[in-house]
Amino acid sequence: MPIRTTTPRTTTPHATSPRTKNRASPLHKVRYAVRHPERVPRYLRRLARDLRLRLSTRDHIAYYRAVMRDDTARSPEAAVGSASHERWLALGKMQYDYLLWHGLRPDDRVLDIGCGNLRAGWRLIDYLDAGHYHGIDISPDILLAAQDVVVGRGLQAKLPHLSLVRDLRLAALPEAYFTVVHAHSVFSHSPREVIEECLAHVARVLAPGGYFDFTFNRTDGPEHHVLREDFYYRTDTLVRLAADHGLAARFMEDWEELPHRQSKIRVTHRAAHGEEAA
Ligand SMILES: C[S@@+](CC[C@H](N)C(=O)[O-])C[C@H]1O[C@@H](n2cnc3c(N)ncnc32)[C@H](O)[C@@H]1O
Repeated sequence: MPIRTTTPRTTTPHATSPRTKNRASPLHKVRYAVRHPERVPRYLRRLARDLRLRLSTRDHIAYYRAVMRDDTARSPEAAVGSASHERWLALGKMQYDYLLWHGLRPDDRVLDIGCGNLRAGWRLIDYLDAGHYHGIDISPDILLAAQDVVVGRGLQAKLPHLSLVRDLRLAALPEAYFTVVHAHSVFSHSPREVIEECLAHVARVLAPGGYFDFTFNRTDGPEHHVLREDFYYRTDTLVRLAADHGLAARFMEDWEELPHRQSKIRVTHRAAHGEEAA
């Protein structure tokens, strides 16, 4: 396990701005529709798709896999949330740069949960030693698109591992192996039970001294979701969930300075924080 000289980036911690908007409330929806009438047809199309996929799938993972199939067929870059190729590049660079600022080294072993079509992954694969990048995803369609990115970027010799999973129990992965676990824009699309499953199993695969960073849609008001595609959580809920699974969690203030709507939490083994392991 490499010794980490973390956070060379100098930041001034600042109070994070409170977010209280409840996008699920009828009042918000009406106000939003009045302010953005041009977006109503798109919302109605999403609503219709949501109903159709809900009726034809058995659980959230099957539902979200179907959402990804639909979206990836249109555009893999849009399917992971980027409105243009430039945004796809910029969002991947933001994730990658942040990990570098926090001491990422070529010999780190990275698990990228919900790797999508390698928006950050291709940069990580390029930087890390061969075989040190593992991407997992529930969507076979986006994993095929990820392979296209590996080919397009000429990264075959870096031997990235790209695996399809049906859950986040991480059962096929080795114990105490990954020095960095990363999930960008995954819990923002996950109901609580999926997050809990991940937090219940991530400690097993996390190397001593390693960390797990995940982003989430933060709300400081009531927790809610929109069409079960976008979920909004309170920071204290996620910190508590991590603690329930014997993990220490902290809100990453320096991520808030970046131009990104989601917030970030870092989870470590409790022992790494000098606390008694549960
Ligand atoms: C918004 S995209 C982000 C992809 C990538 N992390 C990035 O930043 O470009 C969310 C990805 O997470 C995957 N995903 C959603 N729920 C998942 C789960 N429970 N387990 C693994 N992957 C999941 C989706 O299939 C999709 O590829």
